[in-house]
Amino acid sequence: MLKNEFKNKVALLTGAASGIGLATAQAFAEAGAAVAITDINENAAQDAAHALQQQGFRALGIRCDVTDEASVAAAVQATVAEFGGLDFAYNNAGIHVPSVETADARAEDFDRVIAVNLKGVWLCMKHQLRHMREQGYGAIVNCSSQSGLVGIAGLGAYTASKHGVIGLTKAAALEYARQGIRINAICPGTTNTPMVAAAMQSHPESMQAVIDEIPAGRMGKPEEIASAVLWLCSAGAGFMVGQIVAPDGGYVIR
Ligand code: NAI
Repeated sequence: MLKNEFKNKVALLTGAASGIGLATAQAFAEAGAAVAITDINENAAQDAAHALQQQGFRALGIRCDVTDEASVAAAVQATVAEFGGLDFAYNNAGIHVPSVETADARAEDFDRVIAVNLKGVWLCMKHQLRHMREQGYGAIVNCSSQSGLVGIAGLGAYTASKHGVIGLTKAAALEYARQGIRINAICPGTTNTPMVAAAMQSHPESMQAVIDEIPAGRMGKPEEIASAVLWLCSAGAGFMVGQIVAPDGGYVIR
């Protein structure tokens, strides 16, 4: 990404205090954008924003729970109030639940993963689009997963939530394509983040089996997902509408 590609632009990210979101916030800042780091973990969001400020970048840390509509609306408003607009949004916040076969899964885990991973993306798009529609431009990237494209045994609710993100992305992309707003999704493969470290601890065998099947022979790095997000927001991706981009080391083409 060119150093000043996003000079005078504003990016809002959800779940950006850790892992892929944090790396993507860093990449947006390095490309010149002012960055709103939102996360349910307020202290971690503030710390991440502070770290960017110490590098000389413009950043704001905001508590935002993507399952709470008022919290989402307030985060968008705070970003626009602080930085004067909203050019890009990366709807990244997501959770994993323990791997379990469908007959043994708990309804509360299903509800929780759908609330964060699917309804959260919908709520964020809703409030980001209200602003972008008014200004007449913008780019949104939603975070799906390789589990949005293929089935992974034991991850039924997570897989359903991530397939759902692709559907939401395509429908909204059609609605706004003529209004100067591009909406796309990324489907990361297994990427070395705290979420994967936790999954490795809770069910090491099934996680190792997934990693062993990555054609590239390794997990992804958060920066490799970030660069795909930034490209989808860039002018070079100006004709990308409703597309599903999978930085996954070849996992879904096997
Ligand atoms: P992570 O666990 O390192 O970071 C997720 C962040 O989301 C955390 O900072 C957490 O506090 C925040 N969060 C959780 N619930 C939230 C809520 N209700 N509202 C706002 N923020 C909330 O996870 P990671 O690995 O960086 O994942 C980021 C996204 O990438 C997720 O959507 C995940 O499903 C997706 N993904 C990750 C893959 C991986 O291998 N790491 C593979 C495919 C997709």
